[in-house]
Amino acid sequence: MTTAWHNQDEEAKLWAEERWSRIVDKVGRTSKRIGASFPYASVNGQYNDEPVDWWTNGFWPGLLWLIYRETGDERLRAIADEVETKMDEPLQAFEPLHHDVGFMWSLSSVAQYKLTGNEKSKLRALTVASHLTGRFNLKGGFIRAWNPPERIGWAIIDCMMNLGLLYWASEATDDPRFRHVAMAHADMTLRDILRPDGSTNHIVCFDPETGERIESRGGQGYAPDSAWSRGTAWALYGMAISARYTQEERYILAAKRTAHFFLANVPDNGLPPYDFRAPWEEGMGMDASASICAADGMLELSLLLPEAEAKLYRNAAYRLLRRVDETCGAWDDPKEEGLLRFSTANFPRRTHVNVPIIYADFFFAEAVCKLRGKTDIFW
Ligand code: GLY
Repeated sequence: MTTAWHNQDEEAKLWAEERWSRIVDKVGRTSKRIGASFPYASVNGQYNDEPVDWWTNGFWPGLLWLIYRETGDERLRAIADEVETKMDEPLQAFEPLHHDVGFMWSLSSVAQYKLTGNEKSKLRALTVASHLTGRFNLKGGFIRAWNPPERIGWAIIDCMMNLGLLYWASEATDDPRFRHVAMAHADMTLRDILRPDGSTNHIVCFDPETGERIESRGGQGYAPDSAWSRGTAWALYGMAISARYTQEERYILAAKRTAHFFLANVPDNGLPPYDFRAPWEEGMGMDASASICAADGMLELSLLLPEAEAKLYRNAAYRLLRRVDETCGAWDDPKEEGLLRFSTANFPRRTHVNVPIIYADFFFAEAVCKLRGKTDIFW
């Protein structure tokens, strides 16, 4: 008797092809209604429109650029370009800018520059990379997160996803200083935020004068010593990006241990609570975006490993994406613009709980591209 060898890569590719055509179809339809706006969360089936300086404003153009890259659809290119141009308002005002310029301009300006060579986009991306570098606190070795005066010494795990902008800027200018700052921040994360078990909280506070670590805070997670699920995904994918640009083993190991923590804790249906260590409560916020971003990060990690190891992370990522898709997919609901349900923006503040959110859509589309063999990223 012969045993058929089950080729999971083949299965994953077929699944991803089918999902990709649905993504192109659904995003194409949504783009006709919302155009060059700033969608964040889906409210009653329709994406809302945020102010021009909101931290998630890169995800919509990023999603459009992913599709343009393959379809060459000029209508989508024009929308992504218009969104990017509107974002010149906060760029020129400077004051409202925070550390999330990486989320905002990697997926708009860096994406456009990589795909079209637009010099204006390159200039925008280098301008915000300089801004991000300027937020570096030399004593504490961290990039300052937010602007309120009482938060001068705060750094947050999310910033791992903003570092790609700095690595890219070093390559674009042939100047290592951006990379030096990014690596110092990643090393601070290894030292002061990410725990030995691969879990993470949201915020760490330093004395901005001396750089001494004072305390950690729960922030969007449950508590200072709990495990914010989306924060875990930010750490995983962010470490993989740092490893991709630097080839440093310590970042690969950190991404692996974070992946192991995520996989050991995510429920069978692929849908984690907003915090892995929060006590269960009625109406609890779940977070599909955490699983999707974590799976996307595992695919990124797999690209850095020898094949025997790489396939373990690739397969784990595929299985996680499938499970979360089965649990959360909104493909067959024409009244829902979001691709996947059940993400939560901020459960402690009860904002956008268990709804489709634009970054879940973006990371799902990016991960599907990777499963189809399109592994270039805009980060
Ligand atoms: N960067 C904020 C969040 O993850 O919601």
